[in-house]
Amino acid sequence: MLILSIETSCDETSAAVVKNGSEVLSNVVASQVEFHKKYGGIVPEIASRKHIEVINPIIKEALDQANITFNDVNAVAVTYGPGLVGSLLVGICAAKAIAWSLGVPLIGVNHLEGHIYANFLTQNTPAFPFICLIVSGGHTSLVLVKDHGKYETLGRTRDDAAGEAYDKVARFLNLGYPGGPIIDKLAKEGNPNAVRFTRPMPEGYDFSFSGIKTAVVNYVNKLQETATFSRRFLADLVSSFQQAVVDVLVEKSIRAARAYNCESIALAGGVAANSALRNRLETKAKENELEVYTPPVKYCTDNAAMIGCAACYKFQDSKFSDLKLSPVANAKI
Ligand code: KG4
Ligand code: ZN
Repeated sequence: MLILSIETSCDETSAAVVKNGSEVLSNVVASQVEFHKKYGGIVPEIASRKHIEVINPIIKEALDQANITFNDVNAVAVTYGPGLVGSLLVGICAAKAIAWSLGVPLIGVNHLEGHIYANFLTQNTPAFPFICLIVSGGHTSLVLVKDHGKYETLGRTRDDAAGEAYDKVARFLNLGYPGGPIIDKLAKEGNPNAVRFTRPMPEGYDFSFSGIKTAVVNYVNKLQETATFSRRFLADLVSSFQQAVVDVLVEKSIRAARAYNCESIALAGGVAANSALRNRLETKAKENELEVYTPPVKYCTDNAAMIGCAACYKFQDSKFSDLKLSPVANAKI
């Protein structure tokens, strides 16, 4: 079975062809990062305009790389939310048009569900039930995955997403955009214990990262008169910030896995690429006899292959969408 999938929820235009749910024949991703860089964050209006410019060539490229034509496609999958409405709309319109003209099913996929399914694009997949920590620029959710299509969101962020906190701290320190990979790299040179930032632990499995971000800003503002912003200073600062974020993410994930009798924790979303998070989670999981699953980085950040994978399981259950499918900015799973 061949699914053509489309993902345009944020600032990446992506199309993929996924065979039988796990074999990625193509996964083309056009990043808009260059256009948003100078603003230090995503500008929704620019994002939707750029999606319109590249969506058709990206879909063609995905078919070409998979060595198939439209006529080989059995279903068309698309992200319907959560995300930026204008961006989602571009992918949804393209998917509807293709599905309608080919007479094949249309499958709307929740973006967060897609992130979870990045863990099913590899040979080694987690057994149910498992805990999935979805950490990206727009989301931070701890999800109990009971079975295919059966989820319970245990907690989510009450303010900034983890990646958003990385991006905002990097913007404040003039380190560049997106902040996550830059901080990840610079933090390796620093001492994670140089500054002790408070670890916010809201009740249950919720998260809160805006306090850590503000603590970094306050720390720097207090020092500003005398401080020299040497590379060493910045490395210590971002390393300490990162340690605080990672400690909270890991602590809550392990706690959830134990409380819900899960044997494994799967990572998803752009921040899953973070080396400190991966290392700390591996270490703590081992201490608690838990397994950790981390998809390859190309499937952690936004991509259409994960949407095609999730859609395959929906196809098996005949969970199709109709042509009224519309963007849902705050869609939940
Ligand atoms: O999943 P994604 O591509 O898009 C969203 O759905 O948001 O995630 C992008 C986010 C950005 O905030 C970026 O700074 C962060 O993931 N990110 C990282 C790393 N690589 C990407 N954060 C920390 N460490 C990284 N290595
Ligand atoms: Zn995402």
